[in-house]
Order: sequence, then C-alpha cells, then structure tokens
Amino acid sequence: MTPALREALLDESIYLPAESRILTARPMTKLETLFRIELPEGLSLQHEPGQFVGVSVLGVGEAPISISSSPSRSNGSFELCVRKAGSVTSALHALGPGDSIGVRGPFGHGFPVHQFRGKDILFAPGGLGLAPLRSLIQEVLDQRHLFGRVVLLHGARQPSELLFMDEIEAWRQTGDIEIHLTVDRGDETWTGNVGVITTLFPKVQVHPRNTIAVTVGPPVMYRFVLMELLGKGIPEGNIWLSLERRMKCGVGKCGHCQMNHVFTCQDGPAFSYDQIKHLEEAL
Ligand SMILES: Cc1cc2nc3c(=O)[nH]c(=O)nc-3n(C[C@H](O)[C@H](O)[C@H](O)COP(=O)(O)OP(=O)(O)OC[C@H]3O[C@@H](n4cnc5c(N)ncnc54)[C@H](O)[C@@H]3O)c2cc1C
Ligand code: FES
Repeated sequence: MTPALREALLDESIYLPAESRILTARPMTKLETLFRIELPEGLSLQHEPGQFVGVSVLGVGEAPISISSSPSRSNGSFELCVRKAGSVTSALHALGPGDSIGVRGPFGHGFPVHQFRGKDILFAPGGLGLAPLRSLIQEVLDQRHLFGRVVLLHGARQPSELLFMDEIEAWRQTGDIEIHLTVDRGDETWTGNVGVITTLFPKVQVHPRNTIAVTVGPPVMYRFVLMELLGKGIPEGNIWLSLERRMKCGVGKCGHCQMNHVFTCQDGPAFSYDQIKHLEEAL
C-alpha cells in the first residue's frame, strides 16, 4: 500500500505540510467550492470519514478542513468543500487547478464506521455539515449491504445553499437511501418542505436501539436535533456528532481546542453524545 501522509510527516515534522496540488476547483454555491487535491507522488491520505486536514496557503496561514470524500472514493486524491470565511479560506478560493497548497494530517478521530455495521443509519447534517458527513455517507453507500435502512434528513437556509444536490439526486435514484430535504426559506424554484431540519423528524419512524444517528451542523442546531433524536428513544451512545473548535496544531499540543480534559483535535472531532454531554463547553 502507498505510504500514508501522516507517517511521512512524522518522519520529518508533523508541523511541516506536504506540498500538494489542486486538481479541480468546482464552485458549488456563492461561498463554497469543492477542491480535489492530490498529495505528493507516492503518498496517500488513508483517512477515516470525519477526520480533517490542516490546509495551508503559503504566506497566509492554515485552516482545519474536513475531508469530504470517503476513503473508498479517495484513490490518489481527495476532496475538501471549503466555505469562504476569512483570510485562509479566501486565499484558497483564489487558487485553481495546478496551484500548490500545504496539507497536514489526517488528524483526529473520525466516525467508527465498522461499529455501525448491521445498524440502520440516520444522517442529519445541516448546511455545511453535509461536507464532512458526505465522506461517511459515501463510505456507507459503497458498502451498502453491510448496513440496514439508511435515511438522510438534510436542511439548509435556502435552496441556493443546498450543497451536493446533483449527488443527492444520484443517491436518491439508486434507492439505497431515503432522503428528506428542507430549507428554512423557500423560493419560486422550491417545491419541497419548508422549515428547520427538526420539521423532518416526524416524517421518519426508527427502531431506536438498532439506529445510529449522525449529525453535523452549526452548534445551535445540535441542541434541537439532539432533543429529536433522544425523543425518538435513540440511546446516547448511538448518537454521533462532530465538534468544531478553534484549532492550531491539530495534534493535541497547543491547547487551542481543549474542553476540560478533552482535545477536540485529537479525541474528536467525532464524538458520541455520551462522551461529551458532561462537558459544559461542548454544546
Ligand atoms: C475540525 C474542523 C473541521 C472543519 N471543516 C470545515 C470544512 O469542511 N469546510 C469549511 O469551509 N470549514 C471547515 N471548518 C471551519 C474552518 O476551519 C474555518 O472557517 C477556517 O479556519 C477559517 O479560517 P480563515 O483563515 O479563512 O478565517 P479567519 O480569518 O481566521 O476567520 C474568519 C472568521 O471565522 C471565525 N472562525 C475562524 N475559525 C473558526 C472556527 N473553527 N469556528 C468558528 N469560527 C471560526 C473567525 O472568528 C472570524 O470571524 C472546520 C473547522 C474545524 C475545527
Ligand atoms: S489544536 Fe492544538 S491541541 Fe488541539
């Protein structure tokens, strides 16, 4: 197997990024672009769904970004869906195919997909939360026979902010996944559900003890989605989410992402609800 990037970096310094190349840059919405990145020849990412990389633009800085493609679809290159938020992400948006960026990682713990086998899976991403969850969704769909029923409940503020719509339609066509979409505010093109993501939950019945729920989205969403999931009787240990914190090193050294004794960059960013519910700052 091709050597993993992380091991190669550890041979030199985990803080020194590997110079990588943008293969494609596909604008998805006004603010988000999907980049396909190629690592230096002979290296592979070997990530878990839910892990992230440190992406740097020379002379500007570095930002943590979740890996958006699954291990099963990251053959020699991988995808990042990046929202233009500030200095590093804007500099990244100004780059295109052939340009160089730095990559460190993959970092942290992703979702333990092997533990989900045999279970029904309920995905509930909100907005940009679909970017990290897409990695897990692709992984599950690529080994579809290993899982029970698969449901996606997804919401965005408005139709133009829904990400990966072409791919969502392709998933729907396969019949492998039940999909319910919503937007907070509709427009003249939208004929689907209008309302926040929690308005989708009454549309699906689950077998709570056999269901794994995975939600990724803005912090404000978690409180309400958790109420729905717990209200359906899904055990706390079966509910998974991803936490975003300010990060610098990505490897448990600088303390920027620390919540009590937990380092989000290393112990997470994927956690089960029972692992973090006692942490005051977590949600
Ligand atoms: C584990 C992890 C995974 C992430 N995955 C993705 C992803 O897949 N796609 C994506 O577009 N973004 C992702 N982010 C968010 C991304 O890292 C930030 O948007 C980015 O660091 C902003 O950097 P910047 O230099 O462009 O902005 P800056 O110039 O640093 O800041 C711009 C604004 O964003 C705020 N900000 C910066 N970092 C954060 C943060 N972590 N949380 C909340 N506010 C912040 C600043 O206070 C400021 O208001 C992820 C963050 C984490 C921690
Ligand atoms: S980002 Fe440095 S300890 Fe987590």
